[in-house]
Amino acid sequence: MTKVRIRVNGVTHPVELEPRVSLLDALREHMALTGTKKGCDQGACGACTVLVDGERIVSCLALAVQYEDREITTIEGVDEPLQEAFVRHDGFQCGYCTPGQICSALGMLAEHRAGMPSAVTEQVATAPTLTHEEIRERMSGNLCRCGAYNGIVAAIEETAAETDTTKAAAL
Ligand code: FES
Ligand code: FES
Repeated sequence: MTKVRIRVNGVTHPVELEPRVSLLDALREHMALTGTKKGCDQGACGACTVLVDGERIVSCLALAVQYEDREITTIEGVDEPLQEAFVRHDGFQCGYCTPGQICSALGMLAEHRAGMPSAVTEQVATAPTLTHEEIRERMSGNLCRCGAYNGIVAAIEETAAETDTTKAAAL
């Protein structure tokens, strides 16, 4: 067993766990933060997405011991207009994927604001416009078994249009 300090949503959690424990399991089973969901447990669905120092990762593929003293944000620590936009646009049905979708979208919007291109960006020399196609590509690691994709994209597009300097394109 290893003693580590995991900092989540501004609170430091001293925990003792085996070095092979994933960050996802540490959050859910050692810190009682069950908002982060386990879908596939192999990096394929995005349900376990959290933010680490503002960047999105899939926590099922991360070892908790590697994240000592990093700033981790889970859905319990998110208070953003994007959440209301998900409600307005019916961006969920059962809600199981939603914590991961929201954390991933926040990370994605930060990546876009930083000018990062995606696989569908045609002109990488200039800041890409956040079109439907760009949002879908950038969120393609987050699966929704209920198929609420249209609402998810609409919620992200609306939030991007309200908060970004780059206006989301309406296609
Ligand atoms: Fe981590 Fe599916 S549970 S990607
Ligand atoms: Fe049910 Fe996405 S809302 S899996």
